[in-house]
Amino acid sequence: MKLNPLLVLAGLAITLITTQALAAEPETVYLSSLDLSPIVQGWGQPQADKAVTGKRMSIGSKTFERGLGTHTDSLIRVQLKGGSEKFMTSVGVDDAATSDHAAITFRVIGDGKTLWKSPGMKRGQAARKVEVDVKGVKTLLLLADSGGDVSFGHADWADAKFLVTGERPAIVGSPHEDAVILTPKPARTPRINGARIFGVHPGHPLLFTIPATGDRPMKFAVDHLPKGLSVDAQTGQIHGRLDQPGEYVVTFRAANQFGKAKRAFKIVCGETLALTPHMGWNSWYVWENHVTDQIMRAAADAMVSSGMMDHGYQYVNIDDCWSVKPGASDPTLGGEARDASGMVNANLRFSDMKALTDYIHAKGLKAGIYTSPGPTTCGGYVAAYQHEELDAQRFAEWGYDFLKYDWCSYGNLAKNPDRAGLQKPYRVMGDILRRQDRDMVLNLCQYGMGDVWEWGKEVGGHSWRTAGDLGGSFNGIPGALFRDGFDVYSKRGLHKYVGPGGWNDPDYLLLGYLSNWKGQTAPTPLTPNEQYSHVSLWCLVAAPLIFSGDITRLDDFTLSLLTNDEVIDVDQDPLGKPGCRVAIDGDLEVWAKDLEDGTKAVGLFNRGEDEATVTAKWADLGLKGKRIVRDLWRQKDLGKYEGEFKASVPRHGVVLVRVRAK
Ligand code: GAL
Repeated sequence: MKLNPLLVLAGLAITLITTQALAAEPETVYLSSLDLSPIVQGWGQPQADKAVTGKRMSIGSKTFERGLGTHTDSLIRVQLKGGSEKFMTSVGVDDAATSDHAAITFRVIGDGKTLWKSPGMKRGQAARKVEVDVKGVKTLLLLADSGGDVSFGHADWADAKFLVTGERPAIVGSPHEDAVILTPKPARTPRINGARIFGVHPGHPLLFTIPATGDRPMKFAVDHLPKGLSVDAQTGQIHGRLDQPGEYVVTFRAANQFGKAKRAFKIVCGETLALTPHMGWNSWYVWENHVTDQIMRAAADAMVSSGMMDHGYQYVNIDDCWSVKPGASDPTLGGEARDASGMVNANLRFSDMKALTDYIHAKGLKAGIYTSPGPTTCGGYVAAYQHEELDAQRFAEWGYDFLKYDWCSYGNLAKNPDRAGLQKPYRVMGDILRRQDRDMVLNLCQYGMGDVWEWGKEVGGHSWRTAGDLGGSFNGIPGALFRDGFDVYSKRGLHKYVGPGGWNDPDYLLLGYLSNWKGQTAPTPLTPNEQYSHVSLWCLVAAPLIFSGDITRLDDFTLSLLTNDEVIDVDQDPLGKPGCRVAIDGDLEVWAKDLEDGTKAVGLFNRGEDEATVTAKWADLGLKGKRIVRDLWRQKDLGKYEGEFKASVPRHGVVLVRVRAK
């Protein structure tokens, strides 16, 4: 066949045009088709083409086949590398959220610029359509926040898709940050650290170990130690008992071959324990249901060998899973739940509880245990219901110094309790513990119900959890920290109710290696800057400093976060006045805490996604004139400032300072 050259040329031209047109035709890429694992969210798992509940997505009674179901506070970081033209979605609160909650705000941010923002959205409202031009955008952030209300933040990015002409989008994790150690290494000369005040009940055994850094051997002494107490010159352990209520002002002394140190200290014998927030370690977030006697002993060993004890950490606390688990298939969790007289037994992973607390006490440390007012603990282990008196006696007999008292199965017995009903189990246990012949600190773990901060102390508690589990889902830790840690505190004014003898407990320090709830441990999902924010915030709000990562596996960075004495001094300040937020400008916040010597600890936080300058104004701090500002993490004076102090603060980071007159 003979080809007509003109027709061939025309045909070629048409083919060229159509391929060009095809090449320019953008491809539709659904957000839900990407790898969702790097998404950070406050609860549950992100769901492809479903709501976070796993049900079909539905907003304002309209269902959607495709989309991404998340839970507040969530952060989706999408790398576009300039390859997408448009981002389109319909946002709203999923109808399956079983209760109303604070309004959810959706934001779309491209390379640091807000491209779209919803007003606060509530359940039942129709979805809002979003269509944004993302041409040239390298990184797109999709955020859903509910401003501090933690429950039912079921945020849907329905039908979310990109029109892609170049590089395909990919969801990525937080940008890499180097773990920079700011805490100076402790000097070889002695320094006395930790609390400067300690409470004990009259007639009860006292144990307090002088925490001091510096080379060993070290010699300890205490001036004006009241009758009934003695100090061990080698270990710095103070033992004995005080019969007379009163305040005893003493001086701690420590000396080694490089020098000496002293520090004023007050022992207050009376009705109040926990005059400063507790410091210690708890097994839950690393060992959960694998905890054993050996693990607890190793934790006590590590508290000493890591040096944490020399900075004021005292408590070594077992969480759930030490008692018998009815119906467990694992024989080591079995045994007789109670003896013939009704006294509770440990499971077979704990052969001798008394020997365990003796081991912990011999190191100058204290021991803590856990139970629940219900028939079983949250993990399904035997708990204290109808055995409260016997169990408390047992804990005292075993030698425990601390009880964490959960809620869990008690909720099945007390349905919709009023405030008195919420208080009841804690009041019962508070009274019983006070009648034991040893001091036992009581930590309430009922997640803040009934505004526990208003009454926790009155029912005998020394601290109380203010919200749900900070580490409930491994990936959710950063979201939960920036939600519970900041908003719940500031919005509800939690700081107003607490002080010496009773502290708000926003949960443990989630640093180092933690359980990933899949049978392994993994490094905390918090970035280094988030970890600095975590510890700084806990110290500013005078929270208990209870580390719950693997204490036997502390890297230098984690240890440096846990052992900065000037930062710990903020937490342990004897005035015991928790700090609060004093200024907020979008994502930038200033928090301040009054300290006993008239100075202030000030945290300049950046909750935003990009580095920013945060300003602490003297007017917001109630200050005037020239002030000296000291960087607490670096332990370095920065200079004199008039009117304000400004600092550049990295994404999710903090600059923590102390402001003084001279
Ligand atoms: C939760 C509690 C956690 C942990 C757990 C044990 O209720 O908040 O901190 O103790 O129970 O099962």
